[in-house]
This record gives sequence, structure tokens and C-alpha cells, in this order.
Amino acid sequence: CGIIGFIGNDALANILNGLELLEYRGYDSAGLAVRRNSECQSVIYKCQGRVSDLREIAPSNADFSCGIGHTRWATHGGVSDKNAHPHKSGKVTLVHNGIIENYALLKEEFELEDKLVSETDTEVVAALIDKFYKGNPKEAIKRTIKKLKGTFAFVIMFDDIPDTIFAVRNVSPIVVAKTDEQTILASDPAALYAYAKEYYVLGEDLFLTMTPSGYTVEDFDENPVEVQLTKVDWEVSAVDKMGFPYYMAKEIFEQPSCIRRILSNYLLNNEIELGFNGELDKALQSFNRICIVACGTALHAGMMGAQLFKKWCGIPVEIEMASEFIYSDTVLDSDTLFIAVSQSGETIDTLEAMNKAKENGALCLAILNVRGSSISRVADYTLYTDAGPEIAVASTKAYTTQLLIFYLVALKTATVRGKMSEEDVASAIDNLRKVPEAIQTVLGQKDFIHRLAKEVITASDLFMIGRGLDYYVLMEGALKLKEISYIHSEAYASGELKHGPIALISEGTPVIAAVTQTHLIPKSLSNVKEIRARGANVVLLAKNELKGEFSEEYHVIGLPDLEDEYMAFPEIVALQIYCYFVSADKGLDVDKPRNLAKVVTVE
Ligand code: G6P
Repeated sequence: CGIIGFIGNDALANILNGLELLEYRGYDSAGLAVRRNSECQSVIYKCQGRVSDLREIAPSNADFSCGIGHTRWATHGGVSDKNAHPHKSGKVTLVHNGIIENYALLKEEFELEDKLVSETDTEVVAALIDKFYKGNPKEAIKRTIKKLKGTFAFVIMFDDIPDTIFAVRNVSPIVVAKTDEQTILASDPAALYAYAKEYYVLGEDLFLTMTPSGYTVEDFDENPVEVQLTKVDWEVSAVDKMGFPYYMAKEIFEQPSCIRRILSNYLLNNEIELGFNGELDKALQSFNRICIVACGTALHAGMMGAQLFKKWCGIPVEIEMASEFIYSDTVLDSDTLFIAVSQSGETIDTLEAMNKAKENGALCLAILNVRGSSISRVADYTLYTDAGPEIAVASTKAYTTQLLIFYLVALKTATVRGKMSEEDVASAIDNLRKVPEAIQTVLGQKDFIHRLAKEVITASDLFMIGRGLDYYVLMEGALKLKEISYIHSEAYASGELKHGPIALISEGTPVIAAVTQTHLIPKSLSNVKEIRARGANVVLLAKNELKGEFSEEYHVIGLPDLEDEYMAFPEIVALQIYCYFVSADKGLDVDKPRNLAKVVTVE
């Protein structure tokens, strides 16, 4: 969920704008509560639907000076007006990100049932704070929190305390910034870029109190806490569509510059410099196994990373979904390098996974995009992808930048372990330097890819097949397609087709087959022929040098001729463009696919 708290002029307009920027965190419903200096009671506007729907019901030109807002990704309680936040109980109005697991027990224990109008866990908390509130807000919040099991960021107003917003969190994030005119808090920095150049990341179990003069932070014993600021590293324009119809299109097209940025950040005189004064390089010499954990797209980047570590460093690697890893018996010890990958740095499963790895003595490396995020605070080392804010829910530039960091770390590990000669590393770096241009070439083929995409907009299933590294890229491609087009799509390792999936192929079934891995082409092509024989409509992803060979028989998307190991970059970009056009041509909301949220802070 997305959260905003605002004190300053034009609170209502600022909250709505902030909510729009955070809408990628959830868009089932939206709501806000605002008040004026002279008025204690806040007014609440909320509804099922988007922030644009909220705009319709919120008053225009209303001069409010203080308020809180929320965009919801429903967990407890269906998507409805009454379940939308803010929730009000007695004197307490609040918004919440997270899940309160014991809300039903609390409802019973404190006999709150009669006070509730929604089905949410959040309203129970509002009722409980109100029950405990006898004039001391912090005391009431503290007492309530002690009773809660679960994760939360709460932003709270009290009817009888004008112009004041309280915030408290455990796992779910809150950041806050102050300018001369206003103070604004949000669940992630994307909403702050328009206001300030620095922000504070609220720590766990602390009180944040916002007033017209700024904000203060105290621990639960009400001792002041020193505020350390994080620099905003992006311009406001980073959250602009820059003329593209959707953020996803803009983010796909940003990839060459994102890749260049990482290369210039991490390459010094043609050597890979990961930073940390060589400390990390040293650490990379000593572990004997790697465990990579992530969710969604980041997991797919991790899968590619695993192949690189195996190939270049000869190190055993396990890769697990964060949600499974937390409850698994994976061996972790001080000889394990644990790598968490996350665009947001806030995905709760990945965060919990890293906590577990840390407790078990593993060396923890994070590959993240958002600075100051929760995972960065647990990790021993964090390498940033610095891709800028990714707004579209379907991840694109985050994936390619995460991939690139894996290439750099795997190459560095191979170097410090003497597994690769200097010439081989230099040649790998040369290849990486060719990636931005290769992506640019694929972007130039967007119209051709668009034509191919048009052919599947009525399909109900689409399969992607490939071997070796292609298979892992296709897994990401298939995820992209199902996320944004709602076409059922799966990636299969070509060799596995005949063990089951081929039963799904019939006349006209669309299939994308990738054949970029030179040594696997004959085998991959045999599999393509097997499905062709059963009526599949095949689009091939192949290097340009081979395009001519296949173009009689198949539609071929020709990819720049990089060495096999680096084909993942142009290949995924072609797939991103394809999926984007399928979604756009179906008339779907490309940036905000149904049921999804960009930042998942619930297990
Ligand atoms: C959600 C998003 C995905 C993302 C995944 C992991 O499911 O919709 O796009 O890949 O979370 O997010 P993270 O921020 O940890 O990379």
C-alpha cells in the first residue's frame, strides 16, 4: 500500500499528487483524511478504485493544511468503499500498510466489534488506539502496538490534536522530508522527489511526530533520536513519463542509459571496482557456496546470476524463492555468500530471508535499486543498480540492471579466485560495454516486434521455449506477458517439452522460441520442429547472423550478435517490447495490471 502524510498549504492537492506517485504500491482503492488549522475534525474521502476516482469525489479548491492518504492493495477485507483507508474510530483516524495477524483476537479481547464498520484488520487498530487514548497519543499508540502481531506502518491523526500527524512502523517503510513550506511523509521516496533533496528513513519502533514546524523523532521512552538524512539521488523528471504513453515504455527505453550508468559506476580503468575499499573483494575469495534469494523478476535475475557463478567461478549455487526460503531447511553458515536481489529493497519475504541468512552467519550481499531501503540496512554490502525510480508495476530496467550487477560480481569473484585469466576478464568487460548499443538496436526494431505482438492479442496461452541461458531469460519473458496481458504464458526448457508440456500444443498455439546459445542450436531447433509439426505458430529469437537461415520458415526477431553469455540483454528487451505491445493493444492498463502491486510488504 502507499501512504502519504502532509502538513502545509494545499494539503489535499499535495496528498492526491503524492498518492498518484505511490499508486504502484496498490490500486484497489484510495482515500484521504484532511483538516484545516481551525478545525479539529478531519473529513474523509475514500472509494474503491484509483486515485483518479478519488479525485472525482474530493473537493476542489479546498484549503486544507494537514492530512493523510492511502492507496490500497487489499489483504484483509474485500475491495470496497468501506474497506478503503483511512479508517476512523472515535477520535482516531489512521492509514496502514502491512498486516495485523491477530486482529480477530484483539477484536474479541477488547470487545471492539460494535465499533467497526469495515472488514479490515486496520480498523481494529484504530478502535484499539481510540480505546486506549486518554489524552496522551503516544501512550495510546505504544500500548496498542505492544498488542499487535504483524507488520505495519501507521500514520495517525487525533481529532483533538490539530495540525499533528504521528507515524510509527516496524517492517513497512516510512520516509519523511521537510522543506520551508511543508513536511511530507510517504511509504517510499518516489513521492518526495518533488519536494526535497534529502529525506529521513524512519527506523523501527520510533515515534515520528509531524507538525507545521517540521518533524521530530523519539524512541518509545520519548528520548529524542538523532536524524540522519539520505540524499535524494534523482530529479523530479525521473518520475515523469517523458512523452511515453506508459511508464513501462519509458523504462524499457531507458535501459541503454541505465546500463551505461552502472558500467561507469563500477568500471575503473577497465577493471571492476565494487567499492568498499576492497573489503568485498576479499570476502568474495573465501565462501564456498552461494545462496541467491528473491521474488518475481528479481528472482529471474538471480537465476541468471546463478548460472554465471557456476560457469565462471565453479561455485555451487542454490537459488530459492524468498517466500519458500524463509521456511526451508537450506544450509546456511559462515561459508555461505547470501545474495538478496530486490528492486524496492522492501519486499518482505526477501527481507525476512536476509534476516534468516544473517542470523545463521552468512555473508549478506544485497543487489538493490532504492537507497536506504530496509534490505540495505540488514545487508553487509549493498550494490546499487541506480536505475532510477521504476514506476511501472512490471519490472524492466530493474531486471537488466540487476543482471548486469550479477555479471560484474561473478566476474569479480572469478578474478579474485584466479578462475579467469586477465584477458578473459578484459574480453568479458568488452562484451559488457557492447550491451547498451545492442539494446538500442533492439529498441529500433520496435515496430516490427509490435507487428508480431498484434498476432497474439486474442490468444489464451503462449509458450516460450529455450535451452541454457535462454530458458532463464524466457522465464522472465513469460512472467512479463502474464503480468500485463493476462495471457497464460509459461517458459519451458525445450528438452522438457516432450515430458509433458508438448501436450498443450495444438494448431495455432503461439510459441516464442529462443535459440541464441550457439552450442545448443541444433538441439533447440529439433524441439522447435517438434512443436511446428504439431501446429504451433513459432516466433524465433535468434542472433542476426542466423536470421537468414530461419526466415523462410519462421518469423524471426534478429538480435545483435553478442557473444552467447551476453545475449540475455537484447533478448529480454525484445520480449519486454513484445509484451508491452500485447498489453497496450489489448487496451489494458500496462502500468497497473490487475491484482498486482509493485512493492509487496506483506508475506
Ligand atoms: C512484485 C512486483 C514485481 C517484482 C517483485 C519483487 O511482485 O510486481 O515486479 O519483481 O515484487 O520486487 P522487488 O522490489 O523485491 O524486486
